[in-house]
Amino acid sequence: MHYCRAMKITNPLLSIALLLAPVLAVQAAGDPEAGKSKSAACAGCHGPDGNSPSAEFPKIAGQHASYIEKQLKDYKEGRRENAIMLGMVAGLSPQDMADLAAYYAAQTATASPADQKLALGGKALHWGGDTHKDIAACMACHGPDARGNPMAKFPTLRGQHAAYTEKTLKAFRAGERNNDLNEMMRRVAGKMSDKDIAAVAAYYSGLGAGTPAPGTPGDQAAAGPAEEEAAKEATAKPPAAASKSGDEVIKTACAACHATGAAGAPKLGDTAAWEPRAAKGLDTLLHNSITGIGAMPPRGGHMNLSDDEVRKAVVVMLERAGLNP
Ligand code: HEC
Ligand code: HEC
Ligand code: HEC
Repeated sequence: MHYCRAMKITNPLLSIALLLAPVLAVQAAGDPEAGKSKSAACAGCHGPDGNSPSAEFPKIAGQHASYIEKQLKDYKEGRRENAIMLGMVAGLSPQDMADLAAYYAAQTATASPADQKLALGGKALHWGGDTHKDIAACMACHGPDARGNPMAKFPTLRGQHAAYTEKTLKAFRAGERNNDLNEMMRRVAGKMSDKDIAAVAAYYSGLGAGTPAPGTPGDQAAAGPAEEEAAKEATAKPPAAASKSGDEVIKTACAACHATGAAGAPKLGDTAAWEPRAAKGLDTLLHNSITGIGAMPPRGGHMNLSDDEVRKAVVVMLERAGLNP
C-alpha cells in the first residue's frame, strides 16, 4: 500500500476507511481525460458536456467534483433513490466516479431561459431568506453567487433547469430525497411554498457561467434591470430595523451551520470545539467571521448584518460554550 503512505492522512475516519478498504485510496484524484471517454454513457441524457438539452435531466456541467462523486455514491449505495441513475451507476468503480466527476466539473454550465418576474422573488430568497417563515438565505451555504462550496459539498445551482430544481426541492420537502447531511436541505425546503420553490428555480436557471464579483451583491452575469432591482431590495432590506441581539442573529444567520456542525462549523455549546477558537482572541474571531474562514462565508452569508451584530453573535457563541469572551 505504498500509495497510503504517500498520502497525508489527517482524518482519523479516513485512515480507518483506508485500512478497511485499501481500494478507496485510489479514488483520490479524478482524471478529466479518462472521465471524458467514460462520459459517453451519460451524454444521451446529460448532454456531451453535461449541459443536458432536456429539463427532465439535471445539468451537471460545472458542478463540483466532490458533490458529483457524493451523488453517484449515494445512488449506488441507496441513499438517493432514482431508478434510472441506479442503473447507470451500478457498473461504476470509485475511480470511474472520480474521473467522471473531474470531467464534468471542468465543463461550463450555460444559462437557461428564466421567467424574469418569478426570478425576482427568487433572488430575494437567495440573498435574504424569509425571516417570517424562518427560511435560511440560500447564499449562506450555496454562496452569494450560487456557486456552492466544494469543500463542504454544497452544490452550485447556476444555470440548472428550473424544472429539475423544482422537482428536487419538492423531493427534499417531502423527505423523498433525504441524502442531505444533517437534514440541511430538508430543514430549508420544508418551509418553502410551491411559489417560493418556483421563484428560486427561475432565478438559478437564468444564471450562466459569468464572472463572479467577489464580495459584491448582485450578479453581473445575469443582471437585467429587474434583477438589479431585486438585488437592491434583497440586500438593502433591514438597515432601518433595530440592531438584532446576539441570540437573534445566531437563530437567523448562524444556526444553519453552527447548530449542526455542518461543514466543520464548531457546534453551539460545544466547549471542546470552541476552546481552541477562543484562544485566538475575540478580535481575530470577529475578523474571521466578517471576512469568512474556510467553508464559512463572510458574515455567515448574511451581508446585511452589521459588524456589531456579528460581534454580539460571536460573544453569545463563546458564552454558550461556557467560555469567557
Ligand atoms: C437515461 C438518462 C440518464 C443517463 C444515461 C444518465 N443519467 Fe444521470 N440523471 C438522470 C436523471 C433523470 C437524474 C435525476 C434523478 C433524481 O431526481 O435523483 C440524474 C441525476 C444525475 C446526477 C445528480 C445531479 C444533481 O444535481 O444532483 C448526477 C451527478 C448524474 N446524474 C450523473 C450521471 C453520470 C455520470 C452518468 C453516466 C455514467 C449519468 N448520469 C447517466 C438521467 C440519466
Ligand atoms: C445549511 C446549508 C444550506 C442552506 C441554508 C441551503 N442549502 Fe441547498 N443544499 C445544501 C446541501 C448540503 C445540499 C446537497 C445535499 C446532498 O448532499 O445531496 C443542497 C442541495 C440543494 C439543491 C439540490 C441541487 C442539485 O443539483 O440536486 C438545491 C436545488 C438547493 N440546495 C437549493 C437551496 C435553496 C433554494 C436554498 C434557500 C432557500 C438552500 N438550498 C439553502 C445546503 C444548504
Ligand atoms: C455556511 C455555514 C456557516 C454559517 C452560516 C456560519 N458559519 Fe461560522 N463557521 C463555519 C465553519 C465551517 C467554521 C470553521 C471554519 C474553519 O475554521 O475552517 C466556522 C467558524 C466560525 C468561527 C470561528 C472562527 C475562527 O477563527 O476560528 C466563528 C466565531 C463563527 N464561525 C461565527 C459565526 C457567526 C457569528 C455566524 C452568523 C453570523 C456564522 N458563523 C455563520 C460555518 C458557518
